[in-house]
Amino acid sequence: MSSPRFCPYEGDVDARSPNRNLAPLTAEIDSEDQLWVGGCRLADLADHYGTPLYVLDEATLRAGCQAYCQALTRYYPGESLVLYASKAHSSLAMAALMASEGVGLDAVSAGELLTAVAGGMNPRNVVLHGNNKSRVELELALEHGVTVVLDNWWELDRLERLCGQREQRVRLLIRFTPGIECHTHEYIRTGHLDSKFGFDPEELDAVLRRLAMAPWAEVTGLHAHIGSQIFELQPHEDLAAVMVKALGQARALGHDPGDLNVGGGLGVRYVASDDPPAVAAWVRTVSTAVVAACRQHRQPLPRLLCEPGRSLVATAGLTLYQVGSRKEIPGVRTYVAVDGGMSDNPRPITYQSRHTACLPRRCRAAATETVTVAGKHCESGDVLLHNISLPPVVDGDLLAVFATGAYNASMASNYNRIPRPAAVLVHGGQANLVQRRETGQDLLRWDILPEHLRQSDPAPIR
Ligand code: LLP
Repeated sequence: MSSPRFCPYEGDVDARSPNRNLAPLTAEIDSEDQLWVGGCRLADLADHYGTPLYVLDEATLRAGCQAYCQALTRYYPGESLVLYASKAHSSLAMAALMASEGVGLDAVSAGELLTAVAGGMNPRNVVLHGNNKSRVELELALEHGVTVVLDNWWELDRLERLCGQREQRVRLLIRFTPGIECHTHEYIRTGHLDSKFGFDPEELDAVLRRLAMAPWAEVTGLHAHIGSQIFELQPHEDLAAVMVKALGQARALGHDPGDLNVGGGLGVRYVASDDPPAVAAWVRTVSTAVVAACRQHRQPLPRLLCEPGRSLVATAGLTLYQVGSRKEIPGVRTYVAVDGGMSDNPRPITYQSRHTACLPRRCRAAATETVTVAGKHCESGDVLLHNISLPPVVDGDLLAVFATGAYNASMASNYNRIPRPAAVLVHGGQANLVQRRETGQDLLRWDILPEHLRQSDPAPIR
């Protein structure tokens, strides 16, 4: 067995930082040029479970958790807690795996919260986000005793009423927009002032004053998140300073905010030219900045919380597709189509994002043609990979698209009434089905045909 060429960091100091590797850390090629992950041959997984198939590598997921936790122990002298941003991939298996690594969880809906709790996550280690939390979501949070990330005045009023009725106290992290710009896709910037999330920094004083008078509220800390797929370290360094200053503001108003939650956002390597910092470098930057700011503002060290999503799970995942039709447009391009597309991976069409791919049955074959890999949906923009170099691709070939562990399954749809793929978790040569493939019956499950439309005698087709 040898390591494939898409593990370029193998052997360097950051090799255990999964976010810098294109492929799962356990990827290996055998003497027959076949790609294996988690001790499982990908071709066997495709034969057994069908395609499209999400494959998640347990060792890479655990390495990601350990990279964060160990770096925090090493670089941050105070207490800390990693909260997995489950919007990246929410499932029972993922919640259970994260819990087993001592990682907490960030949920943004009743669904993510229920999944976390059912997966065995301790509710004390869960925070609930959202800019428009429903009454049901807030009640669920109160019932399970999870920390609520307070987002706006409307929610404050709503919570006040709910807690009053129940004579219950709620732990709150106050979310504010720290006014920090970062260079990432426009849709996923949340730290600047024009954001739908969180309080404006100008309002923080008024919020803290009102909560100081609220017996139902325990302000346990502050939260900010500046964006996603970020490769720079400077914004997080700046963020730490802004947030520690705000902690001082909260203390001056009588609160005892022990937690500082700096959000997530560390980027991952989707294509060879991406060069994100290692998890340890990100943690070191944030930790050092928090410690320095605490010294400067004479504040005690808070418990440091962070909310990584993508950098914990993206490169642990890949998607297997089967290649079908091919269309050559002379002088323009060659399309090869796969049996999935924008319904299982909406990122390329939504964010113009890029991925790396290979043919797992012929891993080292020379890449002699440039093709565009299209999905099967009725939409011209349904393209997964633009102009990618691959060995000659033929009908029936297996294609592996890397780094699909984050924001793929969780953003998947049934567009064109295409069932969602199955997902398997691989480890030590074992594959466990963690999400069943949807069936045609599943797709019809929520449809109701009104009596008067039922066709006892269908009209002839004209
Ligand atoms: N915390 C908060 C409050 C967030 O809004 C997010 C992501 C995270 C943590 C996790 O960020 P990460 O570590 O994953 O960058 N669907 C988009 C990404 C949207 C991210 C939304 N918020 C994509 O596929 O690129």
